Amino acid sequence: MNTKEIKVHITEFNGASELPGEEQTLLQQAAESAAKSYAPYSEFHVGAAVLLENGEIICGSNQENAAYPAGLCAERVALFYANSKYPGVKVKTLAIAAFADHFILDKPISPCGTCRQVIAETENRQQSKIKILMQGESGPVNMTEGIENLLPLTFYEEKLKKK
Ligand code: THU
Repeated sequence: MNTKEIKVHITEFNGASELPGEEQTLLQQAAESAAKSYAPYSEFHVGAAVLLENGEIICGSNQENAAYPAGLCAERVALFYANSKYPGVKVKTLAIAAFADHFILDKPISPCGTCRQVIAETENRQQSKIKILMQGESGPVNMTEGIENLLPLTFYEEKLKKK
């Protein structure tokens, strides 16, 4: 038997002001996108801003549905839109910001499991890591480089691809 230990690396900043200007702007765009979400059921608003290698920024917000599972998270809205509009263009950074109507979100949110899997697929497709920035309404900002830090033992199988 062999027990393995897996380390993840998350950097915590006291606030967005400790980040480079380009990343502050991206978080700001994520926050603005959160304000445009359609979240009448959870009243929890999430925005995602994707910085592409070509310099374009694509934003998305969570889109809910009366049939709850039909809704989609902000991260997937943004990542799917980015690859629809600019297929094959690499994602450099994904900024995620959120706020709630009924409580103060004083810590960053992390993407849900399904979004982590979609981020993993994006990294595998482009063969490079994505920097992920995470922010609440107040409190620290978390940053990590590469989905392996949020989704250790990620499922991926290249041989499943038909071409
Ligand atoms: N949500 C996101 O958009 N991204 C996340 O990372 C976590 C959760 C959305 C889904 C749902 O519309 C609401 O937040 C509450 O779960």
